[in-house]
Amino acid sequence: MKTATLHSSSPQQTLALATALARVLKGGEIVLLRGPIGAGKTVFVKGVAQALGLKSSPTSASFSLMKKYHNKKTVLFHIDLFRLEGEEVLNLGFEEMLEDEHAIILAEWPGPIERMLPADRLEMNFVLEQGDARTLELSAFGPVSCRLLEALCLAAPL
Ligand SMILES: Nc1ncnc2c1ncn2[C@@H]1O[C@H](COP(=O)(O)OP(=O)(O)O)[C@@H](O)[C@H]1O
Ligand SMILES: [Mg+2]
Repeated sequence: MKTATLHSSSPQQTLALATALARVLKGGEIVLLRGPIGAGKTVFVKGVAQALGLKSSPTSASFSLMKKYHNKKTVLFHIDLFRLEGEEVLNLGFEEMLEDEHAIILAEWPGPIERMLPADRLEMNFVLEQGDARTLELSAFGPVSCRLLEALCLAAPL
């Protein structure tokens, strides 16, 4: 496991970090985003999708829980399972995502699906500070996610 602590002092800085992550994504990476409402998790995910030049595409039953973004070569799933608990969530159409080992998965409130995902994942805990300041506590649990963590550290403001 590898850990690091980064800081963001504005939405723009969070977007710059998202862009830095997007540059090193190849497909198949898992990122779990933790932290309270308003911490910037969704800002970060949208920044990644935008930096990759992806368009959102309609999803089925789980439309509000799972948003799919894609272009010709990349698929990204944005999951948000806020307040959902329990196994019944697993019947809501995550099969496509879980079976695609080349999909990029960015999950807010990942609770119910957490243990279905590969162990090599980057965890980003967004901590609210004064005003627009955020602390980002990163943990990487394998070689793929360590690469992502290092790329974020290189891009972070000192
Ligand atoms: N440093 C920052 N990084 C990200 N968002 C920030 C930052 N400072 C202020 N914000 C604002 O906080 C809000 C974060 O919202 P959102 O990304 O939806 O939060 P979450 O998904 O964690 O609940 C946005 O309105 C954004 O403009
Ligand atoms: Mg959110």
